[in-house]
Amino acid sequence: MDVRLWILMLIVKQVAPFRRPAELSPCHVLQKNADCSNLNLQNIPAQLPSTIHTLDLSRNLLQNLTHDALLAYSDVHRLNLHSNRIQFIQPGFFQAMSRLQVLDLSRNSLDLYGALKTHVGRLTSVQSLDLSGNGLFGDMSDYFLQDAPALTNLSLDGNSITKISSDMFNGSQALENIDLHNNVIIDIEDGAFESLTHLSELDLSINSISCIVDFNLFQLKTLNLSKNSMTNFQTIHSDLEFELMYLDLRENKLLYFPVLPQRNKLMYLDLSRNLLRSVNCSGPLEELENNSHCVSTKHQDLSRLLYLDLSYNQLKSLPSSFFSSMQALETLNISNNCLESFILDGESPLRSLKTLDISFNSLQDLKLEENALAALEVLHLQGNFFSALDPGFFSRLPRIHSLHLQQNRLSICPPRWSPADGCVSFSSLPTLRYLYLSENSLASVPQAAFQGSPLLILDLSLNPGVNIGAQAFSGLETSLAHLSLRGNQLQTLDVDFTSFYNLKSLDLSVNRLTSLSLWRGDSSVESLNLQNNSLVTLAPDTVSSLQKALKTLYVGSNPLSCCRNAHLLTLLQQDQLSVPDIAVATCWYGKDSENVEIDVSAVRAEHCESLDTKVLLIWVIVVLALGLMVVLTVVFKLCHSRRHRFNRGIKA
Ligand SMILES: *[C@@H]1O[C@H](CO)[C@@H](O)[C@H](O)[C@H]1NC(C)=O
Ligand SMILES: *[C@@H]1O[C@H](CO)[C@@H](O)[C@H](O)[C@H]1NC(C)=O
Ligand SMILES: *[C@@H]1O[C@H](CO)[C@@H](O)[C@H](O)[C@H]1NC(C)=O
Ligand SMILES: *[C@@H]1O[C@H](CO)[C@@H](O)[C@H](O)[C@H]1NC(C)=O
Repeated sequence: MDVRLWILMLIVKQVAPFRRPAELSPCHVLQKNADCSNLNLQNIPAQLPSTIHTLDLSRNLLQNLTHDALLAYSDVHRLNLHSNRIQFIQPGFFQAMSRLQVLDLSRNSLDLYGALKTHVGRLTSVQSLDLSGNGLFGDMSDYFLQDAPALTNLSLDGNSITKISSDMFNGSQALENIDLHNNVIIDIEDGAFESLTHLSELDLSINSISCIVDFNLFQLKTLNLSKNSMTNFQTIHSDLEFELMYLDLRENKLLYFPVLPQRNKLMYLDLSRNLLRSVNCSGPLEELENNSHCVSTKHQDLSRLLYLDLSYNQLKSLPSSFFSSMQALETLNISNNCLESFILDGESPLRSLKTLDISFNSLQDLKLEENALAALEVLHLQGNFFSALDPGFFSRLPRIHSLHLQQNRLSICPPRWSPADGCVSFSSLPTLRYLYLSENSLASVPQAAFQGSPLLILDLSLNPGVNIGAQAFSGLETSLAHLSLRGNQLQTLDVDFTSFYNLKSLDLSVNRLTSLSLWRGDSSVESLNLQNNSLVTLAPDTVSSLQKALKTLYVGSNPLSCCRNAHLLTLLQQDQLSVPDIAVATCWYGKDSENVEIDVSAVRAEHCESLDTKVLLIWVIVVLALGLMVVLTVVFKLCHSRRHRFNRGIKA
């Protein structure tokens, strides 16, 4: 044999075992992971290393899972078959994969498989099974769950299951998390979940469950029942402690405060968007010999509760005693109810409350007793009818950080006025950083109104006609970072911001400003909104004050002059500056009768020059034409009078 051929054959023999799989399999193999996703595969590739642990076959066209196909890959721990067209699984198919732990069969056509009424066989070591989005209904899921002794996580979300039967989970007793959200469950048979002693998370949200009257899952930690049609939630009477920590009952039709476990570890309770009118009673009224009897919430122990959301209900009042056990509560949301008053007395202090939202009610008055809210940092009172706040209101909020007071009827006191004058004093609040006062019909912002309050954000927008004096913001020089004066119908703004070293964002949009002169020297403003004003020019010194720090500028909807704004236009055309509304930023050429509106980004210095020369040319032509006319008139006159004379001469 030719030596060269022999060598060539040797090379081929050596190289082939390494090259062949890569050549024949379209998958991307890295160590023990094979990624075969999104390759239009109709069959499971046969040429992968037999030692792979993870096999991703998602987003392909697989239809049938039959034995021979996967026998080679007995070591696979994770198998992803998401988004295929699987409609047939040979019984025992997964049993052969004795190490399989995570199996994703979501978004296939397993309803067709379910119709065959055959069991998939034992899922020996599968811990996590995803069957979501398969159109499963009736008892179809049973064919997967009958023999799944290691299964802890099960997702059945986005199917069409209507009923949880009492024996559904008999073959999967290790379950810890069950996700059944987005089905059409109307019925849960007694005993369906009780035997699952490890069950800790159950998601039944987005179903059609109408009530639960004997909740008895002691071991459950998280229960999500949001977006059902629940009118009632009642726990069985028991002296045993429930593990329940998260209970989500948002978006149901609850008329009564739920009957919660007597001994509980509840931390999170969401009752928003229900039909609660009162929280005095929990559960429906009990009929006791024709006497309606109320199960009072007063003695309900919620001493570990951190979060309570009662927003979007129909509560008219909330007695202080309702909170008596809630010493740990940090967030309370009662927004969007019908509260006319809110009183917190010193006997039921919400000692740990950090955030209180009572926005969008009908409050005119808020009574806080000493120490009732000693830890409060964020208070939402927007959308009420407050025209004043109790004298000493802020002295009861020693940690207040953020005050949302927009959409009320407040007026601001000058410093050292007493609140008895029907206004609110915002000066000398050393913890206050965020203050929102938009839409209050404020008449004025008095001189040094915020002195002694280190505000970072001040929103005074949408108070049309508000009078802002030159010294209105004095005292905020070192703290203020964001100021909004949007929509105030301001014609002038006579404030010197030169010493506001930290002011980063200034919103002056939707006013009637005709000029801007706010700095003597460099400004620190990074974002300036001048949209929708009456600005014709920005003075060169204003532009140069801004130039150093400015990153974002809004100038749309102003009658800017193109040719009188050389500095501004140069600034706008710089790459470092972002002008988000450049598409609506225009300027005007010419004068009075001959106005041309053009995009500011299209203006070139030559346009103005060429315009000047055009004007000059027109002038020259006009002057020449006039001169010519004068000359012609004179010549004509001369000739005419000569002729006259001549005529006369003839006559004579
Ligand atoms: C899957 O099996 C069905 C019947 O069991 C058969 O009709 C179909 O052709 C098979 N599909 C593939 C891709 O093998
Ligand atoms: C099961 O779900 C829990 C919580 O959702 C998660 O932490 C855990 O990793 C999951 N287990 C498996 C095997 O996927
Ligand atoms: C409950 O389910 C809803 C809808 O599926 C979801 O938006 C919400 O975050 C869940 N709640 C909790 C506490 O996880
Ligand atoms: C209170 O609930 C409303 C409505 O659900 C929500 O918009 C608001 O952000 C919540 N407030 C707080 C402070 O989380």
